[in-house]
Amino acid sequence: MADEIKQQPPANFKVTIDNVTLEVPPGTTILQAARLVGGDVTPPAMCFYTPLKGSGGKCRTCLVEVSKGSEKDPRPMPKLVASCRTTVMDGMEVKSITSERVIAARNSVVEFLLINHPLDCPICDQAGECDLQDLSYEHGKEGSRYEFKKRVFKKHNLGKYIQLHMTRCILCYRCVFTADQLTNKRQHGILDRGDHAEIATYIEKSLDNEFIGNVIDVCPVGALTDKTFRFKNRVWFTKPVDAHRDCPTCCGKVTLWARGPEVLRVTARKDQWGEILPDDDGKTGWICNECRFEKKDVKDWIIDGPMKVARHSVIGANHYEVLDTPKETIDEVMGRAPKLLMDIHSVSEVNDPNVDLSKIDGPATGAVFNHKKMIGEKKD
Ligand code: SF4
Ligand code: FES
Repeated sequence: MADEIKQQPPANFKVTIDNVTLEVPPGTTILQAARLVGGDVTPPAMCFYTPLKGSGGKCRTCLVEVSKGSEKDPRPMPKLVASCRTTVMDGMEVKSITSERVIAARNSVVEFLLINHPLDCPICDQAGECDLQDLSYEHGKEGSRYEFKKRVFKKHNLGKYIQLHMTRCILCYRCVFTADQLTNKRQHGILDRGDHAEIATYIEKSLDNEFIGNVIDVCPVGALTDKTFRFKNRVWFTKPVDAHRDCPTCCGKVTLWARGPEVLRVTARKDQWGEILPDDDGKTGWICNECRFEKKDVKDWIIDGPMKVARHSVIGANHYEVLDTPKETIDEVMGRAPKLLMDIHSVSEVNDPNVDLSKIDGPATGAVFNHKKMIGEKKD
């Protein structure tokens, strides 16, 4: 008994996820541990957002199978669990992509989320960096079994900066937590229940807190988008560069999304999970409305360099940091340097310089070039 009391809990818990074993501090969630493993093992997360207290547990995209509860109690958990809300136990064994049940559940969650979500990616500003778009490519089906009309909502105007498309909302609550935790007075929330639940301000109000623009960055879909960027460009045509300015209100560290010299959009800096990166002082790098919406001139910023695109999305396309040209093998194969400049007339009998194509009556044929048919000669 005395021994039991003296026993200290292990400094770290050993957890195995998809056959990869790692040690993490107690209190770590399965999702956080899986992110340390990385790659396909990491469950998708549509509502959990590390900088937002209380987030997670809403969307069920992060479900995993716990095949062994812990070293002390090795029984498997009967139901799939939300990895963003379940902490690891010592000796726990988890299946993510190696579980057929998990894959089937993810497919069903995608189908469920798409019941009311419009398939308007071709005109949606979030396309190319939308978590639901990525998720449906990986786990979606080509068709829907839903036969009823999708939900429609009365339009709400949230002010001059933020555009709300309620039909695209997946009710993840991220924007509500952001407004709660970042502003003094939250002006919007989720009204009504069930199928009628919607993001709104109740009495038509614009969202005008100086940090409210961050709801755009946390929204995993195109429900909240930047009015100053709306329909201006596709995100994959823009080049993201990290930049900073001396801002009296926020950390001033941003990503500029430019096309040529024109800054089309300003966002906070995000990590590979789409979460806003911490600033040097360890606090989340939320940015203010002035930096986000009002500073669209390159001269307003000091450029730090190209953004490191680590996200699994089309925004990663065409962003090369190191030019790695393939080895040139023509010399080796031909035994000599290729002759790049040559006179076409010396190697081709077709383009005889004595033939003036503008003087030929009718199309130029082999007969013309072989001088069997004279220039200006009428057709037979
Ligand atoms: S508007 Fe976006 S962030 Fe807010 S609840 Fe809907 S999906 Fe989530
Ligand atoms: S990310 Fe875990 S439930 Fe949404």
